[in-house]
Amino acid sequence: MASFIVLSVLIIAMMVMGNEFSGISDAEIDQLLKKLNKPALKSIKSPDGDIIDCVHMKNHPIYDHPLFKNHTIQMRPSSYPEGWANELSDTKKQSMVAQLWTINGKCPKNSIPIRRTKREDILRAKSIEIFGKKDPNSIPQLKKENSPGNRSTHEVHIYHSIIKVNSPRQKFHGAKAGINVWKPYVQTPREFSLAQMWVLAGTPTTLNSIEAGWQVYQNYYGDDYPRYFAYWTADGYNRTGCYNLRCPGFVPVSQVVALGAAVPRVSILDGEQDVFLTTIWKDSHTGNWWLKFGSNIIGYWPSSLFNRLQTGATRVQWGGEITNYKEGSQHTTTNMGSGQFAEQGFKKASYFRNLEILDENDITKPPTNPSPIMTAANCYNIRPGIHPRDGVFFFYGGPGRNPNCI
Ligand SMILES: *[C@@H]1O[C@H](CO)[C@@H](O)[C@H](O)[C@H]1NC(C)=O
Ligand SMILES: *[C@@H]1O[C@H](CO)[C@@H](O)[C@H](O)[C@H]1NC(C)=O
Ligand SMILES: *[C@@H]1O[C@H](CO)[C@@H](O)[C@H](O)[C@H]1NC(C)=O
Repeated sequence: MASFIVLSVLIIAMMVMGNEFSGISDAEIDQLLKKLNKPALKSIKSPDGDIIDCVHMKNHPIYDHPLFKNHTIQMRPSSYPEGWANELSDTKKQSMVAQLWTINGKCPKNSIPIRRTKREDILRAKSIEIFGKKDPNSIPQLKKENSPGNRSTHEVHIYHSIIKVNSPRQKFHGAKAGINVWKPYVQTPREFSLAQMWVLAGTPTTLNSIEAGWQVYQNYYGDDYPRYFAYWTADGYNRTGCYNLRCPGFVPVSQVVALGAAVPRVSILDGEQDVFLTTIWKDSHTGNWWLKFGSNIIGYWPSSLFNRLQTGATRVQWGGEITNYKEGSQHTTTNMGSGQFAEQGFKKASYFRNLEILDENDITKPPTNPSPIMTAANCYNIRPGIHPRDGVFFFYGGPGRNPNCI
């Protein structure tokens, strides 16, 4: 009997410990939830388990940022790249199916949909600081801060297969691509697999980065569906920036698209392919950087959030990225793209198409001299090309661990 009690106590203690493993206290969680989840005019339950809060514009998360307490929210872009203008009305070519939650309701006037953060979302993070941020151990210049040989520092590597264009003299004012959507297998909840566009300026430690696309990231979202996301940093991933609305910075204005909500459809091997257009451009009047998915204007990153991007971008990148936590000292089987290598081609490998940039004079054009970059071509690769209809495009991806990638 006594040993039974001891055992029970031990099990209960372990269960409690399990919850506390993250080292985040209940008080910290409550405080963060209160900050992130604004009072809602209406809450909509999505069939996929998300709760969408319709938050009145007067409670907009941007007002939590000390520099934007008095910000006047720009409700719509004051400029749109002429070369991309036809896409605003051409909804067929770049259809974006409504997000699942819209089946159960709409946000009232003057409110925006915000995906509610749940207690479990925070508990899954290792610390409050890391929740919704990039793992500092995956960023080379931040990794150095950790003392070498610290056993508690996990080994994590970022793998890219990307197309990069540089323009040190003439700055970019925007970028665009049709992004093929898949649901890649991700081996462990703390790893992610994504497809995105980067708009960049600065050196590694001063890097200003705007990123958007889709990602599978179980630790952050709680499931393995691909989800629309936006990301920013103004100091090389160090102190500033985060995914979606985890920290104030991005200014959503869409009444129908919530960041972090699941992509409604994914591509099928040898079947129907799903693509959404991602467009990022600099408002020529306000300097704000706008984000559009399909035909929906999502919101903007205020120009004054940044120091380098204020005058334009010096680099644009498109492609896939995964994190590899080397479980069991091996490369994990986390897929990039569809999990197929680039040479598998259409309906098998994932792709980006119609890559375009917006130059300093706000002229849209295909990127010149796009250079492919691969962290490890045996794990994930990329193959660019040009096509009469799909413009500058590339196939990319891979399965992760295989006999040539261990
Ligand atoms: C916002 O406006 C108030 C009142 O005009 C002013 O005191 C404050 O400094 C302003 N804050 C910012 C961040 O501009
Ligand atoms: C990160 O920010 C901290 C605090 O501002 C600073 O001390 C540190 O040098 C920064 N790290 C890098 C790599 O820039
Ligand atoms: C190792 O890292 C842990 C967690 O970041 C930290 O608490 C500890 O002080 C570090 N140890 C050394 C020797 O730097």
